[in-house]
Amino acid sequence: MTLSVSNLCVERAGCTLLHPTSLTIQPRERIGLVGESGSGKSTLGHALVDALRGQNVRVAHVPQSPDEALDPLRSMSYHWREAERALQCTPDRQRQQQLFRALQIHQGNLRKRPWGWSRGMQQRFVIAMALIGSPQLLVLDEPTSALDPVVAARTMNLLDSVLEQNQTSMFLITHDMGLAAKRVTRLLVMDAGRIAEDAPCSSLLQAPVTPAAKALTRHRTWPAPC
Ligand SMILES: Nc1ncnc2c1ncn2[C@@H]1O[C@H](COP(=O)(O)OP(=O)(O)OP(=O)(O)O)[C@@H](O)[C@H]1O
Ligand SMILES: [Mg+2]
Repeated sequence: MTLSVSNLCVERAGCTLLHPTSLTIQPRERIGLVGESGSGKSTLGHALVDALRGQNVRVAHVPQSPDEALDPLRSMSYHWREAERALQCTPDRQRQQQLFRALQIHQGNLRKRPWGWSRGMQQRFVIAMALIGSPQLLVLDEPTSALDPVVAARTMNLLDSVLEQNQTSMFLITHDMGLAAKRVTRLLVMDAGRIAEDAPCSSLLQAPVTPAAKALTRHRTWPAPC
C-alpha cells in the first residue's frame, strides 16, 4: 500500500521546526533522509510516524541510541513484553525466536538488564522489537551511529533481508552519506525544516542541485560511481 502524508507541520515555542511537508512512500521503498545537524530530520521522522499512526498504518520507530528505547532498570524480557502489549500482540515465543534468529541475537540472556548486553546486541534487540507488529514502514533514526563499522554493516545487512522478506518500507535518517548511498534508492535532503531536495539516490550523489545537498556531498566517503 502506498503511504501518504500531507502538510505535516511542527511548531514549538513560536518557531516553525518543520514547514508544511508532504510525502508519499511506495511499498518496499528505501528512502534516506540526510541533512545537517538541527535541520529537522528527527522532527520530520516523529511527525511522519505520528501522522501515519493516525491513519492506522503500522509504522515502527527505532531511535538513534538504544538508550532512548531501553530502560536501564528493566530486564530485556520486560521490554519485549511491554512492546507486545503496546502493539496489542499476544505474546508469541515463536515470533520472538524468528526475529532473534533474523537479527542474530544469540546468547542474549533476557533476564539481564540492557547493560548486560553489548551495544550492538542492544540495538539489534531494539530493531527486533520494532518488527514485532510487522510494520508496513520502519523509521530508523541514525540506527547504527553508536556501533562500530563492522557491527553497523552486519546489522544493516540483517535488517535489509528482514525488510525484503516482509516487504517493509524503510525511512532511514542518517548523517552518513556512505550509509545512505549503500542502503537507499531515494534520498531526501533536509535544510532548515524543509525538504530541499528529493531525488534518486545515485543522481543526487552525483549531481546535487541545492546548496544543502552540495554541501553534504562535498566530502565524499562513499565509492565513486563506476
Ligand atoms: N522540543 C523542542 N523544542 C524546541 N525546539 C526543538 C525541540 N526539538 C527540536 N528542536 C529544534 O528543532 C530543530 C530540529 O531538530 P531535530 O532534532 O529535528 O534536528 P536533526 O536534523 O534531527 O538534528 P541531529 O542530526 O543533530 O539529530 C533544532 O533547531 C532543534 O534545536
Ligand atoms: Mg536527529
